Amino acid sequence: MNNNKTLTSVILLLVGCGVFHYLIFPIFTPKEPGWFLNRYVYFLLMVAYIIGYNIILNLKPPMFFKATTVWGVGYYFYDAVLHPHIPWTLRITYMMLWSIGTFLYITQDPVTFKEFRKPIVKTIVGDYRMARIVVFIALPVLVGFATYQSLLPKFEEPVELRTVHPAPPATTKVHGKSYTLEGLQNPFRIDEQDKYKDSFPFLDADKQEYVKYITEGGTIFFQNCHYCHGDQLNGLGMFSHVFNPTPANFVDPGTIAMLRESFLFWRVAKGGPGLPNESTPWSSAMPPWEEHLKTEEIWKVILFEYWYTGWHPRTFDEESSSGSEKKKE
Ligand code: HEC
Repeated sequence: MNNNKTLTSVILLLVGCGVFHYLIFPIFTPKEPGWFLNRYVYFLLMVAYIIGYNIILNLKPPMFFKATTVWGVGYYFYDAVLHPHIPWTLRITYMMLWSIGTFLYITQDPVTFKEFRKPIVKTIVGDYRMARIVVFIALPVLVGFATYQSLLPKFEEPVELRTVHPAPPATTKVHGKSYTLEGLQNPFRIDEQDKYKDSFPFLDADKQEYVKYITEGGTIFFQNCHYCHGDQLNGLGMFSHVFNPTPANFVDPGTIAMLRESFLFWRVAKGGPGLPNESTPWSSAMPPWEEHLKTEEIWKVILFEYWYTGWHPRTFDEESSSGSEKKKE
């Protein structure tokens, strides 16, 4: 007789909570919660339902079942009802308090405590054979399997190879003018070999024009580029950390030092969107500067980048491979 009542209680709890959670909960969580249609009213209704059917049907569920129900309802509240969702560390804290509360209720007197312990003791002693098999065999096997699964080394997907310096197109059109990249020179570079580094350029009267262009290029750089490429041109600008691929480090010998100025001209003008397919997939943040800078400004900022880092652009006399390079990301 008593067993039947417990079974009824279990079924009403599981079915009821399923109906509440999947059918009624969505109704109580509209976009704009009202004074009645909100999640906390829903929770009270659910609790009222659980208490209600137990009283109405006079089910008097056993202590152990009561305690686990109370505990589970608390867990459900913190996990699903409480909004906004709390971090799991906080949930553990709350659940510990909740568990203590439940335990206090159980141990309020020896009778209730004994009643609560009854199924546990019976499981251990072997009166509940099925429960004992589950607890002592199935459960450890399950936990062991889960641990094994989580520790099993997983094979990473192969790394993507991307072309950092793709072959540039033969020609590029900037501000309506078509440029053939092969042989294209920086109009502001006075001495092809850029020997000014040896003497201190600011003091050299002959090189004043060159210094003027560099200063202009520097101004452009610090107005537009240093946010990403860094005020020391090392790619560590204040926004650099959020980008992948990261902004190019011009001090590194692997970037502008091995590139032609015409390549840079193309890259700066067209930016990330102008990269050919072979350089995908990258979500380069490099803006297409032709939309913001004049052609001569692009050349000047390039001039500045070489002057500042002390690199010399690769020239056309050198072996004319495309400069393609693959890099692991
Ligand atoms: C929003 C951030 C951002 C700004 C601003 C920015 N860049 Fe870039 N730049 C990048 C990123 C990211 C890369 C690397 C990915 C790529 O090559 O597209 C890059 C690459 C480059 C390269 C290619 C280097 C190489 O080795 O191929 C050049 C040249 C360059 N930037 C110049 C400039 C200049 C000049 C400016 C200013 C006018 C500028 N960048 C402003 C993000 C930026």
